[in-house]
Amino acid sequence: MKKFIEKMPKVELHMHVEGSMEAETLWELAHHNNYAIEYSSVEELKAAYKFNNLTEFIDMYMLGTRVIKSEQDLYDVCMTYFKKCVEQNIQHTEIHSDIRTYVDYGYPPEFVINALHGAFEDAKNNYGITGGFMPCFIRHLGPEVAKADLDLMLPFKDKILAIGLSAVEVGYPPSLFKETFAKVHDAGIHVIAHAGEEAPAEYIWSAIKDINVERIDHGIRCLEDDRLVEYLRETQLPLTVCPQSNVALKIFKDMSQHTLPLMLEKGLNVSIHSDDPAHFNAYLTENMISIVENTSITKDGIIQMAKNAIKGSFASDDRKKELAQNLSSYILKHTKES
Ligand code: ADE
Ligand code: ZN
Repeated sequence: MKKFIEKMPKVELHMHVEGSMEAETLWELAHHNNYAIEYSSVEELKAAYKFNNLTEFIDMYMLGTRVIKSEQDLYDVCMTYFKKCVEQNIQHTEIHSDIRTYVDYGYPPEFVINALHGAFEDAKNNYGITGGFMPCFIRHLGPEVAKADLDLMLPFKDKILAIGLSAVEVGYPPSLFKETFAKVHDAGIHVIAHAGEEAPAEYIWSAIKDINVERIDHGIRCLEDDRLVEYLRETQLPLTVCPQSNVALKIFKDMSQHTLPLMLEKGLNVSIHSDDPAHFNAYLTENMISIVENTSITKDGIIQMAKNAIKGSFASDDRKKELAQNLSSYILKHTKES
């Protein structure tokens, strides 16, 4: 089963670039760029990758953004993740990084856009990996900042696959960003949002009703509302679940408590993703393995979720067909393995 998962063709839909920076990379970049990091060794930094909640995690996540000082640095971080994709057979990946953070550091919006666009071009040419860039509005900075962010992004809309909503969730429902997301839709850019990660089911309703999301990041708290579960089952709105992230941020006590099996059983369009793989010590493969080793989810469940990820992606219909074909061929070839 482990072997089957390791080489299975995969699609990742929820991964924040700076969350893929291993402590060693962060440490090296800090020294290379003369950033005065507050840890005295890489081991000490690594030991600080422990969090009690999302807010604590966001602080550490921001440290990653502070040691990046050039487009080349961000490009390199992204390419390191793409190399991991090759190892794990991730064939299509849609990834987050926030423009606002770097704009506040004094860089132009092109800083992030060019770095990620260049990395995606090279990933396609070198490895055949497809996907795209999905900046998020940082919700705890409020709706006015989001509005300004969109103005900065619109001139580059051809290089943006989707716009999301991330960072501290509680207190910042999607409804606050209704006006700006209406403009995102008007611009023909896909709309997604983190919702129901730490905040209750009503935030998921708000993402649906107020900003008309096409996909939800996390969405795990939907189970608190039967009517919402029924809606999600009927519409098959994709939910990008990140099991190890939820355990690391103490939403579940341990992996055996994760409600992904229940979500799958209820017929929801769930799939597995890594969120911030370096911080949570689990890339996509490790997330999938941990779920099968600690919950009732079987190989069939893993295959179902791999199909859901293809279906829930923003890839073209032709590319979706190709990804589905790659997955079916792999399953056919490996049916006897367990
Ligand atoms: N930014 C990076 N990881 C995140 C998460 N899990 N939730 C919200 N914002 C994030
Ligand atoms: Zn996330």
